[in-house]
Amino acid sequence: MNSKVADLEKQGWDPIWETIFANQEWGKYPPEELIRFIARNYYKAPDRKKVSVLEIGCGAGACVWYAAKEGFSATGIDGSKSALVQAEKLLAKDGLKAELICGDIMQLDKLVGGRQFDAILDVGCLQCNTLSNIEKITEMVYQQLVPGGRFFSIMVAADSPGANMGREVEKGTYVDITDGPLKGRGLNHFCTQEEIENLLSKFTSVEIDFCKRSFQNRQVFYNNWICSAMKPMV
Ligand SMILES: C[S@@+](CC[C@H](N)C(=O)[O-])C[C@H]1O[C@@H](n2cnc3c(N)ncnc32)[C@H](O)[C@@H]1O
Repeated sequence: MNSKVADLEKQGWDPIWETIFANQEWGKYPPEELIRFIARNYYKAPDRKKVSVLEIGCGAGACVWYAAKEGFSATGIDGSKSALVQAEKLLAKDGLKAELICGDIMQLDKLVGGRQFDAILDVGCLQCNTLSNIEKITEMVYQQLVPGGRFFSIMVAADSPGANMGREVEKGTYVDITDGPLKGRGLNHFCTQEEIENLLSKFTSVEIDFCKRSFQNRQVFYNNWICSAMKPMV
């Protein structure tokens, strides 16, 4: 096994993220697809405070801020302290409260003290882990959802720029990506449809959609999987 993979399999979170967040401001708004997922499934809840929403790899807190602003009980976890400082500031600016936890989601069950959530969100976090760790984290996500709870995930797709660039450390996983939006963003796994189907095989109501965006006047195409799935009721 490649030594970078061996290291990151022991410790899932890549410390490059601390350097990134210590040196750059991050986007403050969640992606449209996440807003649609929350709106469709939770806007009609009679008491939004009773709906618990967890984001794994929340970064500077855009999605946690949005969930708190909409009145949900929001929790965010990230390995980067600097990212969570940015998230705290974003929440404080609007007088919002959310629970922010610093840690590696390879220990998700311990970090949340075994609690279960109504919704767990992933916006570009899972993809920053090796495939076998993505499998382990997805299993923990499943365990930390209430029956009927929903998982939402945005992950870079196998045919996006960055795949086949840099160093391939395992099949479909690259480091030192030389170009495109994931340049300088540590390790990234570019998921195939088959891998996503396997990851979500224990869930029900699985929807695997695809979002294709062009950049630089259609010279570059970036493809994301947009997935949602439910933990069965029993
Ligand atoms: C691409 S950024 C996305 C941040 C945020 N979700 C957003 O949409 O703005 C990926 C984030 O996932 C976090 N992350 C990746 N793997 C992690 C792990 N194993 N444990 C904790 N955080 C992780 C990184 O620290 C980083 O903040």
